[in-house]
Amino acid sequence: MRIAFFDSGMGGLSVLHHAMKILPQEEFIFYADEDNVPYGTKSPKEVLACVDAAFRFLIAQKVGAIVVACNTATSVAVKIMREKYSLPIIGMEPALKVALDTFPNRKVLVTATAITITGEKIRRLIKNLHAENLAELKALSQLVEFAERQEFNSAAVEKYLRGELATYDWKKFSSLVLGCTHFNYFKDTLRKILPPHVKILDGNAGTINELIRRTNLSPSLITNHQSLTTYYSGRRVTDSAELTRLEKFLQRLDKMEAIE
Ligand code: DGL
Repeated sequence: MRIAFFDSGMGGLSVLHHAMKILPQEEFIFYADEDNVPYGTKSPKEVLACVDAAFRFLIAQKVGAIVVACNTATSVAVKIMREKYSLPIIGMEPALKVALDTFPNRKVLVTATAITITGEKIRRLIKNLHAENLAELKALSQLVEFAERQEFNSAAVEKYLRGELATYDWKKFSSLVLGCTHFNYFKDTLRKILPPHVKILDGNAGTINELIRRTNLSPSLITNHQSLTTYYSGRRVTDSAELTRLEKFLQRLDKMEAIE
């Protein structure tokens, strides 16, 4: 099946990276809206217009399913896109349920972009999980810009994260949830800063499981992935410097994968 993974930028690769391992026989399209990244500091109306344009492009590519590999776009636009199109549309959900199921009654810090943190969708998730006293929200929007320029583990990244995470009483927390797909690139620095008992959780496995459930695809044992076409805001990426840049993101994700 031809499956599209869509994000404002390179964060979506972290979800696709997981899919390529589990569903290597499928034909993937990666759509990064590089002309408009970051979404997280835009207004919901602006993000909706970007998502709308991306969907029109992807539908024209005759994809069988779209994974919105972006928490921000999911939060703003997934419901509207589902009303508009009948193909399976799989969104991201911060892994708060996984955190609470694994560590009942322990606090969880959900990190995301500013739009996701202030959005209705995350409030509803917290309410449905009765987690009002357990979930704390923290915007780490600047990480998106660090990721886009492949500044993954510089002193500036560490300083930013140490500053933003300095005030939490970690004894009370079981985990930190990555509620933005761009944040997966920073797991090593986060691991260095957080006490060892605080686990780092993301929603990637949950999203791919949902994709499998909605499309009846079968996970495969073949490990060599063959088919990936990338578009930046609708332009096909063929330039060798850009393909090398993409490869560097994937190599970074290979390294981050084992860090919890
Ligand atoms: N990667 C996206 C997310 O999961 C959006 C980041 C951005 O463009 O601000 O939220």
